[in-house]
Formats: sequence, C-alpha cells, structure tokens
Amino acid sequence: MEIFCLDKSLLNDWYVVAEVDQLSIKKTISTVLFGTNIKIVLTNNGNIQIFQKDKLLPLKLKYGFIWTCLGQAKQNIIDIPEASDDKRHIISGGATQVNVSGLRVVENFLDQSHLAFVHPGYLGEQPHTEIMDYNVDIINDEIVVTGVNLYQPNASPAAREEAMVAYEWRVYRPYVVALYKANPIFPNQWDYIVLFIQPINEENCIVHSYLCFLPDETTRKDVRWFMQVIFMQDKPILENQIPKKLPLAPRAETPIKSDKVSIIYRRWLTNKSITYGAIPAS
Ligand SMILES: [Fe+2]
Repeated sequence: MEIFCLDKSLLNDWYVVAEVDQLSIKKTISTVLFGTNIKIVLTNNGNIQIFQKDKLLPLKLKYGFIWTCLGQAKQNIIDIPEASDDKRHIISGGATQVNVSGLRVVENFLDQSHLAFVHPGYLGEQPHTEIMDYNVDIINDEIVVTGVNLYQPNASPAAREEAMVAYEWRVYRPYVVALYKANPIFPNQWDYIVLFIQPINEENCIVHSYLCFLPDETTRKDVRWFMQVIFMQDKPILENQIPKKLPLAPRAETPIKSDKVSIIYRRWLTNKSITYGAIPAS
C-alpha cells in the first residue's frame, strides 16, 4: 500500500477524515491521509465504509467524525469528558484545509505571542503584548500548559467586555491539540476547543475543529462563527510560514520568551522520533 509516512507511531493512530453529517449529504467523500488517497462511502443500507483502493480500512465513529487508521491501531481515540456534557454546545467548528504542516498548526495554536497581532480586537491587542511566565509539564506523555492569563478585548462569543482570561492547553498527540479557556459568564468553568488535524501530506493538512462550549448566552451558530473568524485570521499567517515543515532543531528558529511551549513541543516530537511534517534535528 502506498503510504509515504515512515513514522509507525503516527500511522498506528486514528485520524479524523470527515464529518458524519457531511457524508450524509455527499454520500461519497474522497480525501487524502499521509499522501494516501482514500474514499469514504455511505452505502445504500446506511453503513459507512472507507477504502484505500480496494482495501477496506478500519473505521470508528466518534464525536460526530469519521476516523480511520492506516497502520495497526495501537491507541484509543482521545477521551473528551466535556463532549458528554449535554448542557454544552457540542459542535464541529468546520474543516479547513491549510497549506502547511499540521505540526505548524499545533505550534501556532499553542502560541500566545501571536494573539495581539493576528487576532486584534478579539484575542489580544497592542500594547498588551507581554507574555508572563507560565507552566509547561509533560504528564502521561502529553504536554500540559497551565498558569496563563491573557488580556483579551473580546475573548469569545459570550464576552461583553475586555477581560483577563485564563488559558490552558493540552497536546495529546503530535497532531491533536486542545485549548481550555475560562468562560466569560462562568469563570470557574472552561470552554473547550480541540483540533483534530488530518495530515494530507507533510506540507498540507485539514484542520477539523470540535467545540464544547458552555451554555452561556450564545447560540451554536455564534460559537461556530467565532471559531471560523479566528481560524481564517490564522490561515494566511500559517500558509506564509517558511519552511512549511516544522524544524525541530532547537536553534532552527530564533527562540523568544513566549516560545517556551514551542521549544518543548519540538523536543517532545524529537523524543518521539517524529519526522512526518517536520525537519528533524539531525
Ligand atoms: Fe491564532
């Protein structure tokens, strides 16, 4: 089978390749995972099948998405307790193709320093650009970022005024990252956004976002709109990054103070011997 990824640990994992709702409309979806063409089919009797040429691939349905694995699935799809909280708005934020390595998308999602410049008026604003120290830990082989408070003019669809907003992040897998963000109406509870990234190839990906937002004064439509506005601001910035793959050598790109998490993310990828979508350190 033509698969152009040498990283077994990546191939032996599950990836989102489509939304169940999209397949219901389109009946057949052709897409690409790790450079491999796959076809997702809704059969006449309502079953879903995924093919790589004539080969039937494994399939799971979870969180409203269709998942497959090109290798031998060695781990489960991540567990999201917020997804079973039926008081929340639980929705897909849509799928966006981004012409850059998915690892760059994860790194950008973790980056506090871009918020004031790329999302002014929403997630940051000059002169509030100073990054305070924060914590990055590796817990159960996941990267966990805590202790972040950011000045935000309009932090979420429910925000009515500027505020300091608590953030935490979690990198579950090289291509799966989540953000926990204090809700403006219920400040002791967290809205949750996860990106399931589908690597098309090493320099191209589809970002599937999934949102579990608290039932504040917003509608599902508001939440989805906000996510798409923010992500459309990131897309051109991401697509202009050179090189398109993420360099893992510690000094490959000038580190600044806020880059602590990015240095740790790159080192974590190196320790896992990830090469797909990366420029390895040596
Ligand atoms: Fe951003």
